[in-house]
Amino acid sequence: CAPGSSSASGEGYPDRNVEIVVPFAAGGPTDTVTRLVGDPMAEELGVQLIVQNVEGAGGTVGAGQVASARDDGYTLLMHHIGMSTAPTLYDDLAYDPLEDFEPVGLVTEVPMTIIARGDLEPENLEDLFAYLEENEGDVTIANAGVGSASHLCGRLIQQELGIELQEVPYDGAAPAIADLVGGQVDVLCDQTTNTTGQIEAGDVKAYAVTTPERVESLPDLPTTAEAGFPEVEVAVWHALYAPAGTPSDIITTLRDALAVALEDSSVVDQMASLGTAPVAADQVEPEAVTTKLTEQIDLWGDVLS
Ligand code: MLT
Repeated sequence: CAPGSSSASGEGYPDRNVEIVVPFAAGGPTDTVTRLVGDPMAEELGVQLIVQNVEGAGGTVGAGQVASARDDGYTLLMHHIGMSTAPTLYDDLAYDPLEDFEPVGLVTEVPMTIIARGDLEPENLEDLFAYLEENEGDVTIANAGVGSASHLCGRLIQQELGIELQEVPYDGAAPAIADLVGGQVDVLCDQTTNTTGQIEAGDVKAYAVTTPERVESLPDLPTTAEAGFPEVEVAVWHALYAPAGTPSDIITTLRDALAVALEDSSVVDQMASLGTAPVAADQVEPEAVTTKLTEQIDLWGDVLS
């Protein structure tokens, strides 16, 4: 066994750095949330939390790597709604989201924004959707791979309009939004944790948020429901996981550190400036992740199949 841990219990855990796998490219929304909570978690645990970006296949490569990692508490996964879409979208998924992980707790729920390259003509969501319908075969929509949150939102848009756009996959929403700003792709649905800066800088055109309520930090953006498209609604929930078999006292230690991080005023303020907030304290529990994951696998299974 690795020093300071045993398969029976987490006595002395942690006594060395802990790795958190982010299954998307650095700089994107999942990476941003992980680094935000990782710093105060590290302080609480007394070791460093090393973020490892393991890209590919809409987050399933990174998730699969953690599913097969040692159950000693030194390899974790920060993932999001993609844990619930992958079972429907990947026939040969290398893991079972409910069986191959020990959930630690929910982290945050992030609104998405429908954005386009800055020189696209439409000025509002209704006109953008009409543009997509009229130019169906020529419009490119970026995402972070099949099963990613941006891919899911793109599917909701295409299903709502009954069209098929050219989907352009990236290893994460960071390279995707870079190409959108550069004009290489036309449209992207991405989380406020990644788009707020570009929207505020005027580098992209923003049309709506995909949550029932407007986002306080983007007050001028209408909701999709206000614009007449209530079916295009999705919020990207994030959770922290360890491999199945990780001792329960290690999960409790991690859960306690995550709860402290989510109460950290700097984390709360930074999340607020990026359009999101920590989950309620009673959601920072393994059972809350299992409940959410089960419900979301069913929901997106119906929508995507
Ligand atoms: C996604 O679109 O699923 C991810 O948020 C992409 C990312 O975190 O880079």
